[in-house]
Amino acid sequence: MALLSVRDVTLRFGGIVALDGVSFDVEEGQISGLIGPNGAGKTTAFNVITRLYKPDSGAVELDGASLLKVSPHVIIRKGIARTFQNIQLFRTMSVLENVLIGAHTLGRKVSEDEAFRVLDVVGLRERAYFPAAALPYGIQKRVELARALVSKPRLLLLDEPAGGLNHEEVGELGTFIRKLRDDFELTVLLVEHHMNLVMSISDHVNVLSFGRKIADGSPEQVQADPAVIEAYLGTDDAAPPPASPEQAGPAAQEPAADEPPSEERA
Ligand SMILES: Nc1ncnc2c1ncn2[C@@H]1O[C@H](COP(=O)(O)OP(=O)(O)O)[C@@H](O)[C@H]1O
Ligand SMILES: [Mg+2]
Repeated sequence: MALLSVRDVTLRFGGIVALDGVSFDVEEGQISGLIGPNGAGKTTAFNVITRLYKPDSGAVELDGASLLKVSPHVIIRKGIARTFQNIQLFRTMSVLENVLIGAHTLGRKVSEDEAFRVLDVVGLRERAYFPAAALPYGIQKRVELARALVSKPRLLLLDEPAGGLNHEEVGELGTFIRKLRDDFELTVLLVEHHMNLVMSISDHVNVLSFGRKIADGSPEQVQADPAVIEAYLGTDDAAPPPASPEQAGPAAQEPAADEPPSEERA
């Protein structure tokens, strides 16, 4: 059985069908890519899985148990953690405080030792007492990752983790995500515009376009799929896979302002 199963999920915003009967599975221990042009519904899918949005219809199951009855603030106790396309940190708090707060809704206390251990993993022990907002964008992304990891998730959702990173950093990120998966025995669902990154580290890739799943399979299979190539033609956010990040254009580097406020921020 798949660890995560999304079944026939539909979600409308007024006249927009952000997700239109979308189904996909994420197998335990795998890195699963979720790609598609801007506005395809990728972030919305994350928001449904983490219960920020309730779908109009369909099912979302973790290990065969429905997540739709779980309230958003306890989703983390089910073993699901995420990072955001637009960084969502408490800006005036320190790196360490942001990480400790990640564990706040866990229902168990996380010690500073545990928080420092994840800061070691992301290489930020030295920055523990820096205010989060004072750090460069790429470092803030690592703080978010540390905050997600401190909850010891089974399933980690990464929404464009390479956004804003330079070419070299993107390469390192791929290696790092793989290492995280192995060291923490994680399952990873990865939304990313950098095709080289997704295609090089994913075991399986699902492709959305205009709210519909148009393809899925191995990286090789989806890259050769005419429906996928067609979906990327005529968009300026990414060339048909496999695209190099340079081809993707500045639009792909910038986080879109389409994210709802996080519950975590309340
Ligand atoms: N909170 C919202 N209210 C209205 N429309 C939304 C909302 N969130 C997303 N959408 C719309 O749903 C579609 C899918 O968006 P999104 O999931 O952010 O796409 P992606 O992450 O693939 O770029 C877009 O048309 C977007 O404008
Ligand atoms: Mg998005």
